[in-house]
Amino acid sequence: MLNDLPHTPIPQHGLAREEVLAQLLAMKQRDQDWRGGRVFSLVYSAGDEVHELLQDALSLYSAENGLNVLAFPSIGTMQHDIVKNTATLLGADEPTSGGCVEGYLTSGGTESLLQAVKTARDVARHERWIRHPQIVVAESAHAAFTKAADYFDVELIRVPVGADLRVDVTTFDEACTDATIMVVGSAPTYPHGVVDPIADIAALALRRGILCHVDACMGGFLLPFLVRLGRFSQPFDFRIPGVTSMSADVHKYGYASKGVSVVLYRTHELARHQVFTTSDWLGGFYASTTMAGTRPAGPIAAAWAALMHIGLDGYLELTRTAHDAAQALRAGIESIEGLEVRGDPPATVLAFGARDPAVLDIFSVGERLASDGWYLDRQNRPDSLHATVHAGSAASVPYLIRDLRHAVTAVGKARAADRSTTYGQSG
Ligand SMILES: Cc1ncc(COP(=O)(O)O)c(C=O)c1O
Repeated sequence: MLNDLPHTPIPQHGLAREEVLAQLLAMKQRDQDWRGGRVFSLVYSAGDEVHELLQDALSLYSAENGLNVLAFPSIGTMQHDIVKNTATLLGADEPTSGGCVEGYLTSGGTESLLQAVKTARDVARHERWIRHPQIVVAESAHAAFTKAADYFDVELIRVPVGADLRVDVTTFDEACTDATIMVVGSAPTYPHGVVDPIADIAALALRRGILCHVDACMGGFLLPFLVRLGRFSQPFDFRIPGVTSMSADVHKYGYASKGVSVVLYRTHELARHQVFTTSDWLGGFYASTTMAGTRPAGPIAAAWAALMHIGLDGYLELTRTAHDAAQALRAGIESIEGLEVRGDPPATVLAFGARDPAVLDIFSVGERLASDGWYLDRQNRPDSLHATVHAGSAASVPYLIRDLRHAVTAVGKARAADRSTTYGQSG
């Protein structure tokens, strides 16, 4: 495979800076142009001004190493600020949280979930003597849980969602065994943007004496502001007794650069299971809270800069903008004959598809939209298109609805040959 693809060899004599940058820009022409507001996946933009600040912060810390906060104490300070502020947003300062929430920065949502699963496994091993632990999640929980189970030798039990595409707590309860160490809810789920009944899942966990993780990778910097706007009222965070850990991505609706998420634990004792230490090598005592050793400091600085520059008022406005647009998109989709939004997504992420797949092929519609320059992910079971609406794509929503309407009419009964739904990289 490595030899099958063309590549640019390292030149004998290095190229001039201008030449290198020109080549980078040329390569980038093939990428999705997220600045145009037509990308409804993968990128979260708070606008050019914030983006420029992120770039400055990234370059200010391009060489420093986030592994060692003794050498670079400013990185430790920024990490602490990001984790503490995230915990506060997620109810850690409220009396019902117990007041002892602790956590760590990670490289992204996937790593936060990997850490939460590994921590649960280690708690089970060291405190409950369970050698073959199980975790119960819904089919809608992020693929990173499957990855975590695979990496850490935990059995993952995936159960079907209810008719509303949310966790069905009775099904969860029935799937739990004596070896179950954790149950999971998402706020919201990636595939459909619905928020699981977190209070019920946490109550089940309390009753069974097991852990409960809330995956708020998507919602951690969104739902708290929707609550403040009076647009969302369902409890989902550490205010709920029984929620033992949470994940929240600063690089999603925190509008930071890629590479920063937070994983939080209800107690110090739980959090300590995440820390890896060893003194069995000649390099001295080694301690690390993340999967990586050396860590880029630039994203940490950019995340800190985003929080400080956008501020709570700024996040409220960004949330209002994204939510208004998502609501408009939902209404637009529902006004087009033959289309339906899956479930009842309360935030800014949604999936939609054909009411009757025999009449309309949503992937065919997706291909048409792609040829018009729109970027939306595909999902299956049932076939759907997926949109993550953020502040930077909000202004494009009326045009997306217009093109969607045209696409549905234009494709008629045509069926796309390509049925793939790949999200990520497989080689
Ligand atoms: C609910 C949820 N959890 C976890 C993740 C994984 O995050 P990342 O892609 O940053 O690893 C995502 C990503 O979209 C998500 O939506």
